[in-house]
Amino acid sequence: MTTTQFPEGFLWGSATAAFQIEGAAHESGRSDSIWDVFCRVPGAVANGDDGEVACDHYHRMPEDVALMHELGLNAYRFSISWPRVRPDDAAFSSEGIDFYSRLVDELLAHDIQPWVTLYHWDLPAAIPDGWLNRDTAHRFAEYAQRMGEELGDRVAHWITLNEPWCSSFLSYAGGEHAPGHTSASEGVRAAHHLLLAHGLGVDALRSVLPAEAQVGITLNFNVVDPADPSSPTDREAARRIDGTSNRFFTDPIFRGAYPEDVMRDMAGLGLEDCIQPGDLALISRPIDFLGVNYYNGSAVTGTPDDAPAPQQEANGRRRGNPNVGSEWVQFVSRGLPRTAMEWEIQPDGLRRLLERLHTEYTGPAGIPLYITENGCAMDDVPDEDGFVDDQGRVGYLRDHFLAVREAIAHGADVRGYFVWSLLDNFEWAWGYAKRFGIVRVDYDTLQRTPKASARFLSSVISKGLGD
Ligand code: FCB
Repeated sequence: MTTTQFPEGFLWGSATAAFQIEGAAHESGRSDSIWDVFCRVPGAVANGDDGEVACDHYHRMPEDVALMHELGLNAYRFSISWPRVRPDDAAFSSEGIDFYSRLVDELLAHDIQPWVTLYHWDLPAAIPDGWLNRDTAHRFAEYAQRMGEELGDRVAHWITLNEPWCSSFLSYAGGEHAPGHTSASEGVRAAHHLLLAHGLGVDALRSVLPAEAQVGITLNFNVVDPADPSSPTDREAARRIDGTSNRFFTDPIFRGAYPEDVMRDMAGLGLEDCIQPGDLALISRPIDFLGVNYYNGSAVTGTPDDAPAPQQEANGRRRGNPNVGSEWVQFVSRGLPRTAMEWEIQPDGLRRLLERLHTEYTGPAGIPLYITENGCAMDDVPDEDGFVDDQGRVGYLRDHFLAVREAIAHGADVRGYFVWSLLDNFEWAWGYAKRFGIVRVDYDTLQRTPKASARFLSSVISKGLGD
């Protein structure tokens, strides 16, 4: 395999999300999202950061597209801000929609394939009860249909949701993301409604898009290992986290049923009560690709008799536990190198993940995989010109590219890779403190400066990875 390059037509791109880069929070009639509201909660976001200006991409979009072109990217995954195109959950805004229409035109003019994500966590704050409200799934479908009507003549790739695990369990049970609730049963309810939104969204998109359009979903995966593989308790802990993080989403989507073991783990949290006749048929509508977000794996341990992990304080705020029904599971360090997020660097986890997904889910469904996010935050140090020689990130990317190549050699049908992220940006609860970009953003001047990792990605796109 060492001399084999990526397959012909392999797509190389970068990914961003509206709330993390756009700014212009009050322009084009945009109304608050749940993240605008959450940013105002003391202690919710590091340093009290918010999305008011972010990278000012809303005003600098042509410059950012030109930069992607200069780097030689073939594709760009961005998300649409729902409260920009449908402020206050009321009438659609032609000015808001026009921004995305111009972005798509600009990308196409530079030979960059647009990949649209409809929901990357910025729910209009005006929707009552957010994802606890079943009707939110129907509102999502209306929004999806309208965007399909507006952009479907030019956009061929559509992602309904980004990482529903984060917008449900991490947000409604873990309290770390908007709206910052700490209830396990709310996490479960939100997760089911998000999956329902996905299914309704697939139908809504297909009703307006050309037959050849590709519709999929992006999930985040945790490659979980027992800390001690010989320990039945650790193996049980790994099964549980694999269940809540991964199979809770893949099984309904690809098999039309929640996994029985996960239903048992979550007994008493109300999942059965949320499921209405026909829901699973909707959730398992055939899709055309699976988007994979992978950052790290984990090792887990714990004993079921342990008291649930105490609620932690973070930035002076109470946190819950996103591992609903399995709060006793603990994550342990394996002594691997870590990124600035403290996430373990484990490229082989990506190879294992891709091979597993292909074997168990996407291969049998006959659909390809795309890595829709992978990348790392590092403690970047710019020189006096703003240039960052981020060899740590270059190494991280190279090792993950090699892992993808190996998975392909072992038969996984992987067709593209989007680096997270094009720009340093608003990293959710971490605000601007964590930098994931291959392009540095100076938050005082908003100047963009490609890092060594951007040059590295460019050279991989034009010349390949080598041996
Ligand atoms: C993912 C999110 C993305 C970004 C990366 C680091 O979970 O989808 O917006 O924050 O993590």
